Amino acid sequence: MHTQKINKAVFPVAGLGTRFLPATKASPKEMLPVVDKPLIQYAVEEAYSAGIRHMIFVTGRNKRAIEDHFDTAYELENELINGNKQALLKVLHSIAPHDMNFSYVRQPRSLGLGHAVLCAEHLVGDEPFAVLLADDLMVGLEGGQSVLAQMVASFGEYQRSVLAVQEVPLDQTRRYGIVAADPVAPGLMKISKMVEKPAPEAAPSRMAVAGRYVLTPAVFKHIRNQGSGVGGEIQLTDGISSLLADEAVYALQYEGKRYDCGSKEGFLEATVELAMQHPEVGSHFRRYLRGLDLA
Ligand code: UTP
Repeated sequence: MHTQKINKAVFPVAGLGTRFLPATKASPKEMLPVVDKPLIQYAVEEAYSAGIRHMIFVTGRNKRAIEDHFDTAYELENELINGNKQALLKVLHSIAPHDMNFSYVRQPRSLGLGHAVLCAEHLVGDEPFAVLLADDLMVGLEGGQSVLAQMVASFGEYQRSVLAVQEVPLDQTRRYGIVAADPVAPGLMKISKMVEKPAPEAAPSRMAVAGRYVLTPAVFKHIRNQGSGVGGEIQLTDGISSLLADEAVYALQYEGKRYDCGSKEGFLEATVELAMQHPEVGSHFRRYLRGLDLA
């Protein structure tokens, strides 16, 4: 079998972010910072750590700040050079290493995640690719691989689509794509069925799809053939569900932690936990938390 590598990552960032209003009225949800880094940068770093160098953003109105974030900021750089602020210059340059490439495409309307992925088809071409939803902030185990790197490793072995999954409480199945799957290797399952946002009584399991996907290009045809699904949107889950008829699709129970930063609670949890581990502010912040009256 001809083995393929994952060279490209698609970041759908065209959603409206209504759960985070008013913050997201004029600025992108993906630019919300957890401690000092915007959500989108965490996702791009994760893709980079998985060996991916071509980052494709599916953007929309009000998302200019994302393009600017990964572009050169000449005025700022000049100020830092003039002030000999080498450490800050290093921070700036680390956002977009020299071997990273960027492409941007617009999704003219928020017609759903499946539709957003289709908007990137001509940039992805006929090769397997990753999809990362930046509002799911994924933190791998300390000293271990990032979540996407774990998925890319599974893809390397099976050469088929791999979805990140985690077990969720039964009363939360309505928020996720839920899979039925059979174990094939430690942490890895072969999916037999997928349902988008089922009620608990209709859920085939408690295995929920998190915002990381490695997909074969065959998925494009299947997304295109879907009508609109739950919420009138073109759902990625429906496209993958249809792909199951043609190809095996795997679910990886990843090692690491997911923060749902599209919700206020998840965003706050991420902020507190990452601040506690932050090399610069961590010890101060822990001391501060210890002094709080949490009764
Ligand atoms: P969400 O379901 O979180 O939707 O999308 P949203 O619009 O961003 O946020 P809420 O629910 O209104 O608060 C999951 C991911 O898919 C992208 C979003 O940007 C987010 O990263 N997306 C969603 C698109 O790019 N286009 C769409 O049409 C829908």
